[in-house]
Amino acid sequence: MAWLPRFAAKKKKETAPAAASGERPATSAVAVETASAAETAYRDGTAAAGLPVRGEPAANELILSVNHVERSFPVGGQQLHVLKGIDMELRRGQLVMLRGRSGSGKTTLMNMIGGLDQPNKGEIYFMGHPFHQWNDDKRTEVRRKQIGFIFQAYALMPLLSAWENVELSMRMAGIPRSMWKPRVEHCLELVGLGKRMHHRPFELSGGEQQRVAIAKSIAHRPTLLLADEPTAELDSQMGAQIMSVFREIIETEQVTICMTTHDPTILEVADHVYQMVDGKFVTT
Ligand SMILES: Nc1ncnc2c1ncn2[C@@H]1O[C@H](COP(=O)(O)OP(=O)(O)O)[C@@H](O)[C@H]1O
Ligand SMILES: [Mg+2]
Repeated sequence: MAWLPRFAAKKKKETAPAAASGERPATSAVAVETASAAETAYRDGTAAAGLPVRGEPAANELILSVNHVERSFPVGGQQLHVLKGIDMELRRGQLVMLRGRSGSGKTTLMNMIGGLDQPNKGEIYFMGHPFHQWNDDKRTEVRRKQIGFIFQAYALMPLLSAWENVELSMRMAGIPRSMWKPRVEHCLELVGLGKRMHHRPFELSGGEQQRVAIAKSIAHRPTLLLADEPTAELDSQMGAQIMSVFREIIETEQVTICMTTHDPTILEVADHVYQMVDGKFVTT
């Protein structure tokens, strides 16, 4: 595939080893301050058109740290152990992939990282925020502003145009209306849909719908983008386009992307791959 050598040749970013056991990440005075500067800019409308102000992010900044995380669910009167001690980290600008068979626990972990669920044991710090200790409301507040989600099945509103779908996510994130237009335009152009802005999902191909979903997920300028099998329903060419868009977004928006996949050709594009087997990471 034409796109592959370009990515394969790309210098892999340095990835530091996973946080040492029990070590509390030293993220985030800077990170938190940076985020709040952007939020203030949103509130006062002082952010530049299309691209809200964000302080220069520290290179290699630690975004997420997962320490000894375990998760089990009560099933039929017993505990089903799904995550059995996970350690991982994500840094600014990385494209990190979780690979593993169906049922190995990838989605369970993604839910945890995104603050949708909490571990039974262990710690999760997102931008220094202790997600493992925080209640739903506090996690939701951070998630709405700083995390974007992409799903296998696109999750677009079927009656809304591409434009309106992206706009909706800015509304949900509480971004002032005056900022919507330039940012929606920017995001749709970034994913290569400048000419399809007013199409509704059923008038778009699967790959185009997924690109709308990407535009929607980054519109509020999240720090972290989580994508659960984003290419699973696409053919390999469309899957390659999605990966190309992900790389572009990392370059232009300094976002970190964590995604799950089965596809070996797609894994080639990752800065780092975590291989999951039965609720644990294994080295390959
Ligand atoms: N809420 C839940 N209650 C009970 N079992 C669950 C729940 N969520 C996930 N599981 C189980 O955890 C295992 C891992 O699921 P999942 O994280 O979805 O795996 P993957 O995404 O790798 O396919 C599966 O056996 C699944 O049935
Ligand atoms: Mg899954």
